[in-house]
Amino acid sequence: MYVSTIILAAWALAGMVTASPLQAEVVQRQTQKKLRIMPLGDSITEITCWRAFVWDQLAEAKYADQVQYVGSQNSNPQNCKPSTANWDQHHEGHSGWLAIDIANSYITKWMQNTPADIVMFMLGTNDVFRGHSTNDIIAAYTKIVTTIRAASPKAKIIVDLVIPLSAGSNSAITALNAAIPAWAKGLNTTDSPIVIADCYTGFKTSDLRDGVHPSVAGDRVIASRIGPLLLEFVRQSLGK
Ligand SMILES: *[C@@H]1O[C@H](CO)[C@@H](O)[C@H](O)[C@H]1NC(C)=O
Repeated sequence: MYVSTIILAAWALAGMVTASPLQAEVVQRQTQKKLRIMPLGDSITEITCWRAFVWDQLAEAKYADQVQYVGSQNSNPQNCKPSTANWDQHHEGHSGWLAIDIANSYITKWMQNTPADIVMFMLGTNDVFRGHSTNDIIAAYTKIVTTIRAASPKAKIIVDLVIPLSAGSNSAITALNAAIPAWAKGLNTTDSPIVIADCYTGFKTSDLRDGVHPSVAGDRVIASRIGPLLLEFVRQSLGK
């Protein structure tokens, strides 16, 4: 018994020693967790194609096998057809939902289920529709960031300026967008940086398909604003 244990241990040790560096590398790559990216939002995240177009950018930069989208949803309701056929359709986009409700009742659970390394969010449009003030929406943003960090202390966060509305008044959207930069700066940390994707400037109301949601052209605008920031965060996270 004693002897056979020693022989077994010696054999295991020899096995480790003779494993080639290449084999070790393959094993490491297989067991390495993929970087988790959470697209968080409302219908502008759920029933749109910018997630798909951003995935194309990840694939083009050769990150596709090292990253994943995460979230409780897994869907492609617009039947988006990006260049990358096997894009990851997970997300945390919920049509009609308010930032305030997500902050108070949902984000804790979502982050516990999939503690994302990178969160990108656009929220506030439904809060504006329901007449909530800029201050209340910004307070919800703060709660969302605090909750993200509780689950994932080194989370990198991309906050979008919200796209314009042509259905109804746009002034509450511009007020929210005006408040976001100073708010983000105030919560910015080295461990958990926040950057702003400007999805507002230059986004034309003709880039909306129904006064609220982006058309394919609008999705391209959003993807062009978020993608480069995401690629930079991915590059930093993967250390290359
Ligand atoms: C947060 O800090 C990083 C690193 O200094 C910087 O690149 C980024 O622009 C800052 N974000 C905001 C919103 O000021």
